[in-house]
This record gives sequence, C-alpha cells and structure tokens, in this order.
Amino acid sequence: MSGIDIESLKAQIESEAALINSVTELDQFRIKYLGRKGVVADLTGSIPTLPKEERAVFGQFVNTLKNQLNSLIDAKQNILKSSLLEPEVIASSVDISMPGIASALGRLHPITQVINEICSIFTRMGFSVVEGPEIETEENNFTGLNIPLEHPSRDTFDTFYLKELSSYPVTQLSGLTGKPANRQTGKLLLRSHTSPVQVRIMKKHKPPLAVVAPGRVYRPDAVDASHLFMFHQIEGFVVGEGIKFSDLKGVLELFAKAVFGQDIKMRFRPHFFPFTEPSAEIDVSCMICNGGGCSVCGRKGWLEVLGSGMIHPNVFKNVGYDSKKYTGFAFGMGVERITMLKYGINDIRLFFENDLNFLKQF
Ligand code: PHE
Repeated sequence: MSGIDIESLKAQIESEAALINSVTELDQFRIKYLGRKGVVADLTGSIPTLPKEERAVFGQFVNTLKNQLNSLIDAKQNILKSSLLEPEVIASSVDISMPGIASALGRLHPITQVINEICSIFTRMGFSVVEGPEIETEENNFTGLNIPLEHPSRDTFDTFYLKELSSYPVTQLSGLTGKPANRQTGKLLLRSHTSPVQVRIMKKHKPPLAVVAPGRVYRPDAVDASHLFMFHQIEGFVVGEGIKFSDLKGVLELFAKAVFGQDIKMRFRPHFFPFTEPSAEIDVSCMICNGGGCSVCGRKGWLEVLGSGMIHPNVFKNVGYDSKKYTGFAFGMGVERITMLKYGINDIRLFFENDLNFLKQF
C-alpha cells in the first residue's frame, strides 16, 4: 500500500518513543510526526496520489496513526510530569545553573549580638542571666539603692515618670513592690538603669548570688551622636561571704580581655555611686590608638566603659541581708558604648535607624 511499510513505521515510532526522556525530546518527537511538515502530514499529502480504491483505507490508517500518536504523546507527557523530580529528568529539562530565588535571611541586631556575647562570657564564669521589668517603682530604682530623695537623678529632667502607684487598679500592682497593694506609695517610672534588678533579686533570693541582668533603660536625654533616650545596660553583681574588691577586679579583667582582646589594659578610677562603697569607674586602654591618644579617646588613651563598686551596706539593709555577714560587688555597663568601641562606630543613632546597609555588616 502506497510504498510504505506500515509495520516498520509502527516499530520505528515505538522504539523512538521508548527513548524519550525529556520534555524537549517529546517536543521533537511530536514535531517529527505531527508537525506541519511531519510524517503524518506527508502521508496525508500523499493520499490524492494513490489509486482511488486505496485512498479510503489509507486515509483510515493515517487517521488511526494520528490518534495513536496523540495518545502516546499524552501518556508520555504525564509520565514526564510525574517524574520531574528525578535528577536525570531535571538535568535534561531544567537549567539547574540558573540562579535560584534567594530568601532574605535575617540576623540578630548588633546590640543583641553583643548582649549575648557579654552574657555568655559571664555565664562561663558561673553567673546566671535574669531580666527585670522596664517599668519600675521609685522604690526599686532609687530608694532601695540608697539614692536619697534629693539626688539629682531623681529629678524629672533625668527620669521618665509615670503615674502615682495609688492611681493604678490594685490588681495591676500585685507583686510589684512586695508590699500589700494599699500600702504601695511613690511613682512608677521607666527605669533609668538596670541596678533595680539587684534589689529585685536580692529581695527574693538568699546569697550566694552571681547574676547579670541585661535590658533597656530610659533617660530623657537630648538625642545626639552619643546620647539616646533609650539604651541598653548590663548589670552584674555577686554577693556572698568574703567577696572582696580583688574579686571585682579579677572578674572585670577577664571580661574586658574577652570582649576587647588580651592586650587591653584596665584602670580603676575612684568615683561615687550611692549604692556602692568604694566605687570606681573603669577605663580600658583605647583600642583605636593602643593608648597613644586619638580623637576617639579624646587624646587620653583611655576609654570609660563601666561603673562599679562594693555593694553599699545600706542596700543590703534595704533588702533584708545581714551586711556584717555578706559582702558583694556590682557593676553596670552601657551596651551601645561597648559595641561602638568594639566596632569603631561613631554615632549611636545608627543602631536604631534600622538601615539595612548598616545592620547587614554585623
Ligand atoms: N547604675 C549605674 C549607672 O547607670 C552603673 C553602676 C552599676 C555603678 C552598678 C555601680 C554599680 O550609671
């Protein structure tokens, strides 16, 4: 019939179909047989050249062939779709060298990173990490810490005050000062330092204690390159029998070397805090100029990083500790300041503008 071997054409189609492994190959197959200039089109085109009596039968054959090809291609297509996850199939149908769609990865804020780093230095020395509330009582923020009523830090210019305790519903106050709700006096405030955590922990727990307390603090300061109305501090304190100033020195030296490097030097300058006696401010040698004097350290070669001292006996009295039996030390540091020194950052506002170009560097 018309000079073509129907059986060998069918065999050819079957063996070619068996080798199809990708969408591209299937496409080529479809074009070869069903395309505008494909085999089926050729066969159809040849019908008018056939003897009249053969045309109907041959036409029937071409139609059947076309239908078989269509269902073969459909079936192949389904197989390829369902096996798209097989590597060899992917390799031949998907360009795996194309860049993928990257999901944006976040990271911890530099201040959080430094808080974590500092806390882990202290936990390795045996300290526990605790957090206190940002809304505090005058009692914990000032009175319990031996800060007298006339102290300038109590001034409304230096502390954000909230309302009188008596103006809050009793239910909101439970547990705030440890006193019965109807005997709570004074104001609530945004804590101006993390030292009230000392009072909270000591009122609740007996010595020995070794605690660090990171968190936000608030002061109504005008904003500039080195001041914000909110920043972070880390408080630390140790209480027990026979705790000495030399323990404070040893702990803080370990801390400074871990944060700023083994070559850093420290210096203790006498200072005054109402809640410690004796008190000292601690400077580290400037890591920018190695103590030679530069613009960062104001040509002094030293940078102030910490306030510290031996816990005042009045603080122990206020929390119900026997100040003859127990001694302890405390220190407090500004996290933004330490982060700025560690990374050479010259404007504290950068931390809270949330510019990704800045944050991405940490
Ligand atoms: N609370 C003090 C401040 O904010 C720092 C400090 C803490 C000093 C503990 C001594 C002991 O300046």
